[in-house]
Order: sequence, then C-alpha cells, then structure tokens
Amino acid sequence: MKNFISTKDWTKNELQDILDHAKDLKVNKFQNTLKNKSVALLFFNPSMRTRTSFELGIQELGGYAVVLHPGKDAWPIEFKPNAIMDEDSEEHIIEVAKVLSEYCDLIAIRAFPKFINLEEDLTDHVINSFAKYASVPVVNMETITHPCQELAHILTMQEKLGDLKGKDYLLTWTYHPKPLNTAVANSSLMIASKFGMNVKLLCPTEDYILHESYINEAQHNCDQNNTSFEITHDIDYGYANANIVYAKSWGSLKYYGKPEEEKIIRDKFKHFIVDKRKMDMTNNALFSHCLPLRRNIKATDEVMDSDSCVAIQEAGNRIHVQKSLLTKLLKDK
Ligand code: CP
Repeated sequence: MKNFISTKDWTKNELQDILDHAKDLKVNKFQNTLKNKSVALLFFNPSMRTRTSFELGIQELGGYAVVLHPGKDAWPIEFKPNAIMDEDSEEHIIEVAKVLSEYCDLIAIRAFPKFINLEEDLTDHVINSFAKYASVPVVNMETITHPCQELAHILTMQEKLGDLKGKDYLLTWTYHPKPLNTAVANSSLMIASKFGMNVKLLCPTEDYILHESYINEAQHNCDQNNTSFEITHDIDYGYANANIVYAKSWGSLKYYGKPEEEKIIRDKFKHFIVDKRKMDMTNNALFSHCLPLRRNIKATDEVMDSDSCVAIQEAGNRIHVQKSLLTKLLKDK
C-alpha cells in the first residue's frame, strides 16, 4: 500500500504513468474504477479547486466522497502522542485514522502549516500521523507541499511544450499582502527539477529562500539530470530566456511566526508582480499560478488574460490527475 504525501517518494516514471493515464481520463471521463469505493476528504483549511476537483472526480469514477472539516462539522482532533486531552480536542488521531479506515478506502488531507514553529511544521505531522495510524492510502491535498498541484502543473506543461527536458523554468516569488504557505513553491522546485528542467528560483532576498530540504532536493534532482539549479535575486536575470514562469508568494522563513515584522520587509517587494515587461524578457514563456490569485497584486490583468497564461488549464487538469492517482492507489492497495 502506497501513500501520496510527497512526490519525493515517487519516481519520475511512476509519476509519468499517472500523467499518461490522466490524459486518457481527460478523453474518457466516466469510469467505474472507484465503484463501491469511498474516500474521506478532510479539510483543516479552506479550498475551492481541491475540494471541487476531488469530490467531482471521485463521483465521475463511480465512487463516493465524504467531506469533513475537523473542528467544524467533525470533532477537533488531538495529534500529540500520550496527550492528556483536557483542552479542546475531543478525540485522538489514533481513533480518527482507524475509524475512517474502517469506513473508507482512502483518506485525503489538507492541513496547512500553522506558521508558528517552523521545525514543527517541517515534520508535516498531521498528514504523517494519518499515514501512521490509517490502514488505507493517504493522499496530500496540500500541507507543506502540494503534490496534486505538481501533477496538474506538469501535465499542463507537457500538453503545451511536449518533452520538458532542458526547458528553462523560473519559479518567481511574487507579492501578496500576507505571508503564505511555501507548499506550492516547495513543490514547484521538486517537480520541475525531477522532470529535467533547468530551474531558477527568483526571490527578493536571502530571507525568502525556501527551506534547505527543498533546495537540496531540487539541486540533487538537477545533478541527476545534468541540468542547472540557480537562486537569484535579480529580476531581469531570473526572467531572461525562461520557457516557463511559475509565480507564487510565500512567507519568509527568517520571520516565521512574526507576520507583523515580516510585513515591513515584504511591502518593499511589490515590484515582484508578474507583468508584461518581465514576461517580454522570457523566451515567449508560458505563465502559470496554482490559484487563487489576487489580480494586479501577484500578476497583472494583462498577464492573466494573455494567451501565455495557462493557470485555468492547470486548474482544470487537477481533476484528471487526481482521478488517475486515486485509481492507481486503489488498484495497488
Ligand atoms: N490550487 C489550489 O489548491 O486551490 P484551492 O486552495 O482552491 O483548493
């Protein structure tokens, strides 16, 4: 039985098989591969695309999705081992994971970092606790990485550009008024490097470099593929000759848990917005973003409405890659 918590645990060929089957499912939408199967979708954070694409995708395969929001429409959960549960949590992850495994064939989790303690958040303890105690496969719907978004991102790039080997890929930090999750940025580096692209990370200063575990993973993948990995704070150099521009905003790890202090710093970097001047420096690059996106803050209307923007196609591909993933996990179970 295999989980889908991070693409780090999956080979490029395994991921490509999922993408190839997703291409078939895009044509033959309705299948019975999840007939008589049920999937628990647990959301600790809000969602639009992830919830809709999982719920509808499961239905299109003949399965049934149960959507739960622990702490809202389901009991709040305690995750600490051996906790004396005299605070707000009504039940322990041990019982939650085991009971859901009795009812359901797969459990999917969205649990963002808490943005208080980086070391604790890096353990990704919510989803890993589910994986520890569940007896069914566990799928990541975004924690400190967003592997389902990675699949949709790569499928979209392959549909537009074919083989991605040797393409120049830029992940650029972009402005947002609040410090956001690093998940999509971490994921972007891991998947672009795994699929053989030359990867550049553009961010305002050293304070915005992503955690070394993801940087090291990207560097390792690039070394394996004989491609390059660079970090730059120079906007013009970052955009120059890119084939793909992927934008995301994230909070500085240096100011983790200190949003007021970080805001003073981040407000100096509004000019990282993706605009036509920057896109004109690329090699006619595709532009994408995982969405949601604040227009004219993260990217201009002109970029979002241009032919080079494939953010909608990427969001659309979420449903196909997830259907393919669930089919594989339940077949291999
Ligand atoms: N990209 C993404 O996961 O969107 P939602 O947060 O709306 O699910």
